Amino acid sequence: MDRIRIIGGHRLNGTIPISGAKNAALPLMIASLLTEQTLILDNVPRLADVAQLERILGNHGVDIMVSGKRSGETADHGQTLHISAARIVDTTAPYELVSKMRASFWVLAPLVARMGEARISMPGGCAIGTRPVDLLIMAVERLGGKIDIEGGYVLARAPKGLKGAEIVFPKVTVGGTHTAVMAASLAKGTTVLENAAREPEIVDVADCLNKMGARISGAGTRQIIVEGVAGLKGARHAVLPDRIETGTYAMAAAMTGGDVLLQNGRPELLQAALDVLVRAGVTVMPTNQGIRIVRNGAGLAPVDVTTAPFPEFPTDLQAQLMALMTRARGTSHITETIFENRFMHVGELTRLGARIQLDGERATIEGVPQLKGAPVMATDLRASVSLVIAALAAEGETIVNRVYHLDRGFERLEDKLGRCGAAIERLSG
Ligand code: UD1
Repeated sequence: MDRIRIIGGHRLNGTIPISGAKNAALPLMIASLLTEQTLILDNVPRLADVAQLERILGNHGVDIMVSGKRSGETADHGQTLHISAARIVDTTAPYELVSKMRASFWVLAPLVARMGEARISMPGGCAIGTRPVDLLIMAVERLGGKIDIEGGYVLARAPKGLKGAEIVFPKVTVGGTHTAVMAASLAKGTTVLENAAREPEIVDVADCLNKMGARISGAGTRQIIVEGVAGLKGARHAVLPDRIETGTYAMAAAMTGGDVLLQNGRPELLQAALDVLVRAGVTVMPTNQGIRIVRNGAGLAPVDVTTAPFPEFPTDLQAQLMALMTRARGTSHITETIFENRFMHVGELTRLGARIQLDGERATIEGVPQLKGAPVMATDLRASVSLVIAALAAEGETIVNRVYHLDRGFERLEDKLGRCGAAIERLSG
């Protein structure tokens, strides 16, 4: 298993190119199941989760071709995938594949909408709380899908096709909204989603579906209206920049001090997080190339932050902000409202010298003047990168173990940070 070695104390200066968003690339790839024609996706990040979804889609009979590099292209350019689900040979998504990545459960919607049936393994336990799929199933049921649960599998059937309906989400869910929008795109009649997720990735997927011939309006607001169509066609779409990667490197730069341009980062995708950085005393400058993050000398001010669905502060940046606040001059509070048990990084940050107390969903972080390097272990994707941020400012050496979590969601992390002056290297094996 690979590890990452970091020697802390180096400022970050330079440019970090932001990759395409993992959380948009995955549902966009899944949307390919809705059409017999080829969907071409540009700016797809090279991530373990993308490779895993390629295997899952391959199992359904989807062909994926990766375009070769064009002249002048570097590793900073995302990949172009040509995805063709001309013939779906299998409507089962087996446990061995779904259990490795929760988002693969989302194939449920396009399979039942296009093929009239889907048999998808329940995703099973997850390191960050129970993460149920009841609302995804509810959405398909509201559209007329018959659901049975057998042997750990969700069986959805709609032999005569799905029918438009009103779907009211009792809780904002990203996966539930993707599921409902994809299923409703091929349903007969109109679907109205209430209390839909407003995340930018929902908008990106709706834009792509509309290019494919879907009739979706209101994506990015609480109410989404989908007029079902008889079939969808191929299209070409570029994945939007990753706001979580952008916010992560913004916090890394804030942590070490320095001056970093987050190239292609789009401020409107993470305004709440940028506002928190400004409150902490960091300079945030939108430029026409991306977002510049500067911190010179001055200490970090503590902040009080509560995670909530977009447009508020994202749960996927909670661990990174906590790492940053371990060095603030004073006491910060972070409340996690989206996922229970999403504080596994706390114990590991404490090993680096952080002072954090947990009380249910609220963490109190007392800033310390210095962190000290130590061996730590990554427990999930966002938690592991929070350890990297802490290590960048810690005195001496930190070894982050189990970095396969990082590879699921961060493309060439050690390369991107290394090019800005961080002392970071991957140790293989
Ligand atoms: C997506 C993101 C993940 C992010 C999360 C919240 C992807 C691939 N993943 O995950 O990175 O952290 O949004 O922004 O885009 N819930 C239910 N029943 C359901 C579904 C969800 O109760 O059927 C609950 C969850 O337990 C959680 C909340 O709803 O408390 C939000 O979850 P959801 O938005 O669905 O997260 P994901 O789509 O899985």
